[in-house]
Amino acid sequence: MTLFGEFLRDDHRRTHKWYQYFPAYEAHLERFRNRHLTVFEIGVGEGGSLEQWRAYLGPYAVIVGIDINPACGQLAEEDIHIRIGRQEDTAFLARLLEEFGAPDIVIDDGSHLQPQLTATFDFLYPHVAKNGVYIVEDLHAAYWPNHGGGLRAPASFIEHAKRYIDEMHAEHFWYEEGQKRDGRTPLGDRTRSIHFYDSLVVMEVGEYRAKRHRLSGRVGNFRPDWVPGDPVPERPSAEAPAAAAPVIRPHHEQIAQLQRQVRTLQDEIAQVRASTSWRVTAPLRRIGRLLGR
Ligand SMILES: C[S@@+](CC[C@H](N)C(=O)[O-])C[C@H]1O[C@@H](n2cnc3c(N)ncnc32)[C@H](O)[C@@H]1O
Repeated sequence: MTLFGEFLRDDHRRTHKWYQYFPAYEAHLERFRNRHLTVFEIGVGEGGSLEQWRAYLGPYAVIVGIDINPACGQLAEEDIHIRIGRQEDTAFLARLLEEFGAPDIVIDDGSHLQPQLTATFDFLYPHVAKNGVYIVEDLHAAYWPNHGGGLRAPASFIEHAKRYIDEMHAEHFWYEEGQKRDGRTPLGDRTRSIHFYDSLVVMEVGEYRAKRHRLSGRVGNFRPDWVPGDPVPERPSAEAPAAAAPVIRPHHEQIAQLQRQVRTLQDEIAQVRASTSWRVTAPLRRIGRLLGR
């Protein structure tokens, strides 16, 4: 059963969705199916989406529907809880967290008013469980002035989400000479990825890990002095001792120092290559390489 297949059936309660949401939902929610988890859905409407989440996520999902409309209370059933309140009311949201614990999935399909959904996000996002996901739906409203949005409008959630991209990269903000410009933020620290779809933003939650990278692979498998026309070099045998690849820990001063060293070496190489002796001895180097093989 796919979520889209479930949606296309007409024997459930009504729900209204843009088709492009379904591939995105399935991409981000598949891993939650048949797990014990808590879902907050903001905006219950007539209950069609509650039924879909139950059918798709399976029997262990505890689903909390949040709406201002008291009539939504009729949709409560086993492990589908309805709580009536305003999504921007942080005291109300705090009570939900107390009652149900940290949500694994938040889907905001509520008022679509930009200041309200941003207030909801600001309060709830820090409480989403590690490995959870926060989804904001119907973000075409972010471009509508009558919903508090507009193209590049400061209150638009799309504009907020663009800034979250910067926050996710905050640790990489360096001046050219290695001076730190900005620091990490709580949002950047716990955001593993941000996905933009037409009218949908999906944020995947992680927890901070020091960013690391290293060079891997054997030194000598690539000949920087090879030129087109030369025979393709053989790879060194696997038994030949390989120089250990250094572990590089990014540190802005260290990176700046390495950048300066690289520039100095590049200058030196350029000077050597421009020299007469380098050009005159080029045939000798080529013969030497051939003999070496
Ligand atoms: C688009 S409908 C939800 C549809 C439902 N998710 C579905 O797909 O079937 C939006 C719902 O948000 C509710 N709503 C509007 N403003 C709200 C607010 N400030 N807080 C909570 N719910 C709100 C409305 O009462 C309405 O039921």
